[in-house]
Amino acid sequence: MSKSLNLYGGLGVGAVALLTGAYNFADRFVAPMPTESRVMGEAPANPDIGFMVRPAVASTTPSDGPMGIGRLALPEEVAAWDMDVSPNGTGLPVGSGSVEDGDTLFQDYCAVCHGVFAEGVDNWPKLAGGTDTLDREDPLKTVGSYWPYLSTVWDYVHRSMPFGNAQSLSADEVYAITAYILYSNDLVEDDFVLSNENFTEIELPNAGGFIIDDRDQTELPVFSQEPCMENCKDTVEITMRATVLDVTPDQTAARVAFEAEQAAEAAAETAEAAPATEQVASTEAPAATQEAAAPAAAGGLDMELVAAGEKVFKKCAACHQVGEGAQNKTGPQLNGVMGRALGGVEGFGYSKTMTEMGAAGTVWNEETMAAFLTKPRDYVKGTKMSFAGLKKEDEIAAINEYLKSFSQ
Ligand code: HEC
Ligand code: HEC
Repeated sequence: MSKSLNLYGGLGVGAVALLTGAYNFADRFVAPMPTESRVMGEAPANPDIGFMVRPAVASTTPSDGPMGIGRLALPEEVAAWDMDVSPNGTGLPVGSGSVEDGDTLFQDYCAVCHGVFAEGVDNWPKLAGGTDTLDREDPLKTVGSYWPYLSTVWDYVHRSMPFGNAQSLSADEVYAITAYILYSNDLVEDDFVLSNENFTEIELPNAGGFIIDDRDQTELPVFSQEPCMENCKDTVEITMRATVLDVTPDQTAARVAFEAEQAAEAAAETAEAAPATEQVASTEAPAATQEAAAPAAAGGLDMELVAAGEKVFKKCAACHQVGEGAQNKTGPQLNGVMGRALGGVEGFGYSKTMTEMGAAGTVWNEETMAAFLTKPRDYVKGTKMSFAGLKKEDEIAAINEYLKSFSQ
C-alpha cells in the first residue's frame, strides 16, 4: 500500500474516531431526561444522530424541537461542541505550559508522525520550517511559515490531536505543546512558558499575509445595482480601431473555420447548380476565399478538394500559416511547399533530418507529403513537428490539393 493510501486510510478512521470521541464526550453532560423522552442508545451506529431524543411511542406531550421532533440541545451539550478559540483569545481556558514540558509531550504523542522537531515524518504534515517559501511554486505551509494565528494551533491540537486519540489532552498539555511548536519554529526561546495570559502577545510571522474579505461591502453593492441597458453614456466616440490598437489577431482558428465553411458551401452550391462543368464551379464560386479561388482558376485544381483541404488545415493552423503574408510560426510557412526540397524555408530552424533529407534531394510531392503526414516521426526521424499524423486518406488527399493551391 502506498503512503498516500495509508494516509487517507488513517484519515477515515481518524474522522470516525473524532466524531465518536466528541459524541462520548458530549454524552457525559447529558442531564436526566423527563420520563416521556429517552436519549438514544449508548453508542449509536451512526454518531450523527447521537443527540436526537425521541419521545416514547405512547407520549402525548408535544415535542419542543424545531421540526416537531426531538428536543433542543442542553447548554451542557452545546458547550461540549462549542470549544473554539478565537484569535483574540476568546475561548481559551485558564492554564499554562512550558516549552520543556511540551517537548516531552510532543515526543510522546506527536513525534511519531510530526517528527522530533515538528519537521514531519515522511508525508505527515510538517509543523515547522518553510520560512520564505510562500512565493515559491511549491510552498511549505507550516504553523511558522503560513498560519496567521496561534489560536488556530491551540484549537486544532486541542480539538483533534493526537490523531486517533482526539481530545485526550488537558488544557495545560495543549499550552505546553503549542509552546513547543513555537519553539520548533524558532519563535520563542527554550525557557518560554505559554499561558492564557500571554497568549495574545504572540504574533505569528504570517499574520499580515491574510486580508479580510470585504467584497460584500466593496464589490457587491457595485455589482448589485440595476444594470444600465440603454443610453448609458451621453456621447460615444470611436477613438481608435481595434486593428490599429493591434488587438485583432490576423488569423484566428475561428476565422479559418469560417472561411473553410464558406468555401465548402460555395463549392457545394455551385456543384448543384452546374454539376457537369467543374470549370464553372471553380471560376464562379464567389464566396470561396481568394487564396483558394485564384490559383484554382489558373491551374485546374479540384476546388471541392481544396475546400475540404482548407477544413483539414485547421489541424495544422496552430503551427503553420499559408497564403498571402504567411509567416513562420512553430512550423514553417507553407507557401510553395509542393515541388520544393524538404526543409526549404530560409530562416526556419528545421530538425537535422529534415534539412539533410532536403539536401539529399527529397522533394515534397503527393507521395512524400502523404508519407510524412501519415506518420511524421517515422518519415522524418527526429522531426520537430509534434503532430500525431492524419489517419484518413481523403484528408491527406485534401491537404495535398490545398497545399498545391499555394504552390503554383
Ligand atoms: C498518527 C499520526 C499523527 C499523530 C500521532 C499526530 N498527528 Fe497531527 N496530524 C496528523 C495528520 C494526518 C494531520 C492532517 C490532518 C488533516 O489534514 O485533516 C495532522 C495535522 C496536524 C496539525 C495541522 C497541520 C497543518 O499544517 O494543517 C497540527 C498543528 C498537528 N497535527 C499537531 C499535532 C500534535 C500537537 C500532535 C500530538 C499531540 C499530533 N499532531 C499528533 C497526524 C498525526
Ligand atoms: C504542433 C505544431 C505542428 C502542427 C500541428 C503541424 N505541424 Fe507541420 N511542422 C511543424 C514543425 C515544427 C515543422 C518542422 C519540422 C522539422 O524541422 O522537422 C513542420 C514541418 C512541416 C512540413 C515541412 C515543411 C518544409 O518546409 O519542409 C510540412 C509540409 C508540414 N509541416 C505540414 C503540416 C500539415 C499539413 C499539418 C496539418 C495536417 C501540420 N504540418 C501540422 C509543426 C507542426
